[in-house]
Amino acid sequence: MREAILRAEVGDDVFGEDPTVRALEAEAARTTGKEAALFVTSGTMSNQLAIALHTRPGDEVIVGDGAHVVFYESGAGAALSGVQFAIAGAGGLFDADAMEERIHPTAHWSPRTSLVCVENTHNRAGGRVFPQADAVAIAERARARGLGVHLDGARLWNASVATGLSVAELAAPFDTVSVCFSKGLGAPVGSALCAPRAWIERARTLRKRWGGGMRQAGILAAGALYALAHHTERLREDHANARRFAEGIAKTPGVSVDLAGVQTNIVNVDLAAPLTAEAVAAAARRRGLAINASGPRRLRAVMHLDVHHDDVDRAVALLSGAVAELRGTR
Ligand SMILES: Cc1ncc(COP(=O)(O)O)c(C=O)c1O
Repeated sequence: MREAILRAEVGDDVFGEDPTVRALEAEAARTTGKEAALFVTSGTMSNQLAIALHTRPGDEVIVGDGAHVVFYESGAGAALSGVQFAIAGAGGLFDADAMEERIHPTAHWSPRTSLVCVENTHNRAGGRVFPQADAVAIAERARARGLGVHLDGARLWNASVATGLSVAELAAPFDTVSVCFSKGLGAPVGSALCAPRAWIERARTLRKRWGGGMRQAGILAAGALYALAHHTERLREDHANARRFAEGIAKTPGVSVDLAGVQTNIVNVDLAAPLTAEAVAAAARRRGLAINASGPRRLRAVMHLDVHHDDVDRAVALLSGAVAELRGTR
């Protein structure tokens, strides 16, 4: 990837003259089955561009519980597009009935519900795959009610590898799709918004307005192109490592893992009281393992291309040592 970045041909992308960015955008559009794509700095930017395109200030956006656009995008939906959010279902995944319950009736005192966002795989739900039948039904019902449909596909290749469905099949129900090259795919920077061409042209204007127009961005696009060519199939190694980690750590007293929920590269590790995630994460760090607290008693472990099979066993040993230390059993 470093070699590809070094050799990348570049131009001024604000003028549409960077051939490597153009190649990446064409590849992202082809892979997701959409007409066009726009290279952006982050998944946050591509999600927020989509929200801005689909909504007007005062609108409401339906999302799943724990959605990235609500939890981790610094309030951008409210700050940049003036929207509020309604949560459908529990735990991140939801079906068309749960969505429909959240659509406001048309009345001058109600917010206009204009968009539904699906996240696949779902980050806070521990990398769960959004069932495709539900995605299809949600999109159909949403369209019938006049709503737009956006897919936060930051880890769409993980969903593809886990289900055997192509990225284009997973993206097909949606008007707009955000994909990230900088997660498990291992590129240093970048995401793409994929959508009909006219939408992408509107997004290009907004991207510039938000300060996201980049000049010789081909050095970044080259990393993403390399990741698409070389790092998608290997995601199944991350999934196998996640399962190995989950099964290993679940044996530790004071720890539980919903093994059925471990479907891709993320493992949510739940701790029994009085253990706290902050204290266990700090003890693990002292032992040489970096792991994040994602809730008061929940840790989140993520597998990626820099995590080797052997690292997984080491991580299990370090984390279970940290837990035992805090429980006073070691
Ligand atoms: C589901 C999901 N969407 C969007 C993003 C945003 O990506 P970025 O960190 O590139 O803004 C992330 C990041 O982890 C994510 O997990």
